Amino acid sequence: MMSELSFDFDTPIDRRTLPGDKWGRYAGRDVLPLWVADMDFAAPPGVIEALQRRVAHGVFGYTAPWPELVAAVTDGLARDHGWHIEADWLVWLPGVVTGFNLACQIAGAAGDDVFSATPVYPPFLTAPGNAGRRLVSSVLKPDADRWGWDRAAVEATLTPRTRLLMLCNPHNPVGRVFDRAELAWLADLAERHDLLICSDEIHCGLVLDPDTPHIPIASLDEATARRTITLMAPSKTWNVPALYCAFAVIPDADLRRRYRRAMRGVVPPPNVLGMVATEAAYRDGGTWRAALLDYLRGNRARVAEAVARMPGLSMLPPQATYLAWIDCRGADLADPAGFFEAAGVGLSDGTPFGTPGFVRLNFGCPRAILDEALVRMARALEARTPRETPTTPGTP
Ligand SMILES: Cc1ncc(COP(=O)(O)O)c(C=O)c1O
Repeated sequence: MMSELSFDFDTPIDRRTLPGDKWGRYAGRDVLPLWVADMDFAAPPGVIEALQRRVAHGVFGYTAPWPELVAAVTDGLARDHGWHIEADWLVWLPGVVTGFNLACQIAGAAGDDVFSATPVYPPFLTAPGNAGRRLVSSVLKPDADRWGWDRAAVEATLTPRTRLLMLCNPHNPVGRVFDRAELAWLADLAERHDLLICSDEIHCGLVLDPDTPHIPIASLDEATARRTITLMAPSKTWNVPALYCAFAVIPDADLRRRYRRAMRGVVPPPNVLGMVATEAAYRDGGTWRAALLDYLRGNRARVAEAVARMPGLSMLPPQATYLAWIDCRGADLADPAGFFEAAGVGLSDGTPFGTPGFVRLNFGCPRAILDEALVRMARALEARTPRETPTTPGTP
C-alpha cells in the first residue's frame, strides 16, 4: 500500500476561485466551511487524466454506459466488498438522491408509509413526502462507544402501511458501518413486515476501520437481495459529486422493471464525464483511496481529541465517512451551528437531520484548515460569557 505521503492532501487548494457550494456560502467572510459533504481534495490523478483525455476528444454525443465501465463497477464491488453482481442488475442514475426518491415512488401506493431512522441525511426525510408517502421514524441510540438501533422503537414505529425501509449504510451522519448482526436483524424485519429495502451505500468506500468492513445488505442472502435496491456512486469516495453519476443495483427483475418504469421520461442517464470518472475511479482508484483513508483517520483522531477537550461537546468517532456528528446539548447553546458560524466555522446544523442540538463537521480537508477550525471552536466555547456557560443540571 502506498503511504499517504505519495499524494498531497495537505496543501490547500483555493476553491474560492470557482463557483461552488461549500466555499461559496461564506464568500467574503472569514468562515471555514466544514459543512456540505464534499472534500477539499483534488480527485485522484487517474480520474483527472481520464477526464482530460475524454475532454480532449471534443465530441460529447449521447453515450450509454459501455462494457468497460460496467466491468469496472462489477469488478470493484467484488474486489472491495465481496459482492458479486450481474451486469444487468445495474440501473444507471444521475444521483443517489434521485435513486431513493424513485424507491419511495414505487413502494406501495400513495398514502403508504416509509420508515427511516433519525438522525439521517436530510433528503431521506423529505423523499417520502415528495412521493405522496408518509415518513415514519424512530431515533438511533448511542451507547458507550457507538450509535445503534433501538430495536423495540423501530418495531413500534412500523405501521401496517409501512412499505419501505430506508437504510443509510455507512451512515451519514453518525458514521456507523452496520455489522452483520444488525443487517441480519434489519433484513429479518423487512421480511416479517414485507418491506422493500432501499439501502443508500454511497459512503461504502470510506470505511476508516479495516476491522469493520462494509457489508452490502443485499449480499446477505438471496431473499434480502430480492427486496433490495442498493444505491452507490463514486462521488463521495473519489470526491467527484458534481459529475453526477450513480447507480442502483436491483437483483430482482420485476422490481428493476418497476424502477425503470418510474424513471421513464423523467430521469436522464448520467453525464458522460461522470461515467468516465466512474470507470477510472472503480478500476484504478484503489491506491489513492487507501492513502485518503490514512489521511482521514488522522483527521478523525484530531477531531475526536479536540472535541473531547471542548466543554459541553461530545462525539462517538465515526467508523466511516469524513463526517463527525457532535453532540452540543451539554454546552447549552440555543443555536449551535449559528454559534460556531459566528466563531468562523461553518458546520451543518442537526435540525434538518431530525435531531436539533447536534452539528456535523466535515473533516475531509487539509489538516491546516481543520486545525484552525478546531482552535476557533475551542476558543469560542472558552470565551463565552458566564450566562452562556453550561450549567450542571440541579445546580442553581
Ligand atoms: C447518504 C447520502 N446519500 C446521498 C448523497 C448525495 O448523493 P447524490 O449527490 O448522488 O444525489 C449524500 C451526500 O452527501 C449522502 O451523504
